[in-house]
Amino acid sequence: MHKCTVRAGSNIAFIKYWGVADPALNLPLSNSISMTLADAYTVTTVAWEERSAQARGEAPDEPDEIVLDGVQLDGATAQRIVAHLDRLRALAQVNWRARVVSQNNFPAAAGIASSASGFAALTVAGCRALGLELSPTRLSALARRGSGSACRSLFGGFVEWEQGHDDTTSVARPLFPAGHWDLYDVVAVVSRAAKAVSSAGGHRVAATSPFNPARIASLPPLLATVRAAIKARDISRLGPAIEQDALAMHGVMMTSTPSLLYWQPGTLEVLHAVRRWRQEEGLAVYFTIDAGPNVHLICEQDQVDPVVQRLQQLASVQQILVSGPGPGPVELDEHLF
Ligand code: PMV
Repeated sequence: MHKCTVRAGSNIAFIKYWGVADPALNLPLSNSISMTLADAYTVTTVAWEERSAQARGEAPDEPDEIVLDGVQLDGATAQRIVAHLDRLRALAQVNWRARVVSQNNFPAAAGIASSASGFAALTVAGCRALGLELSPTRLSALARRGSGSACRSLFGGFVEWEQGHDDTTSVARPLFPAGHWDLYDVVAVVSRAAKAVSSAGGHRVAATSPFNPARIASLPPLLATVRAAIKARDISRLGPAIEQDALAMHGVMMTSTPSLLYWQPGTLEVLHAVRRWRQEEGLAVYFTIDAGPNVHLICEQDQVDPVVQRLQQLASVQQILVSGPGPGPVELDEHLF
């Protein structure tokens, strides 16, 4: 049976991937650094069925079947996944049909990147079910083609995606394992509305911002600071660097053509609250924001409860999700179908 089930964690970037040098290959404009999450993950089962001789003849090929969180996908979302299945078929040199069932343990549009965990799980499960034995680095390159940030979810803990210059060199590598530092991502959900512009669309227009070259030029020392801060488990060094890059990325987004304004009023309420808690109450908590309105609060374990308690008092916070660092993809014995 050509079937495999894999669980992969999402990841939160401390230094962001924003903008592509090559949209077909998803080659980024810089390195990025993230933490793979333990408690925000996707479980995906992939089964490959050999097409019958009849189906290989006159009858049109049956399309792949893709079910995400209980909903059968069609249109553009299905197309993106079928394109990825095609990459796997090409590698294995088969024309088999895929059945894919995938489940996120976190609500869609909660501001956690389901494309990162989703494409990581799909890549690993799909390849293993085909009998392809690829190294984590090869799998990272392959996952990158589906969604850039997915290449980082091929490893657990703290991970750096090397910009690279072609398909094989643009891959993630582990910096430190999950057990290195009990750092938490506390997600303040302030809006569940689907975003108007996908990150794929955003990456393509990043270069239209006059601020984009300045942000990219600012990254080498910032990446060095983040690497050193993670190594030393020093939140007071990590925090300012991640806030700076999140704000720089949103500056690029806001000044692109077309302009992308992901923030909602609730976003600003949380940003100001975080700085107030830090300055007035000495809480060691810092923020980062992906391509959406929700705010990720980064802190060490002892600050999680005080942060959650304070977030619960804010009018615009609808939901709070908490996750520490987690492992890379794990193969599961139980299949989803
Ligand atoms: O992998 P994508 O195309 O969904 O892009 C992710 C973009 C950010 O989440 C904003 C930043 C990042 O590095 O994860």
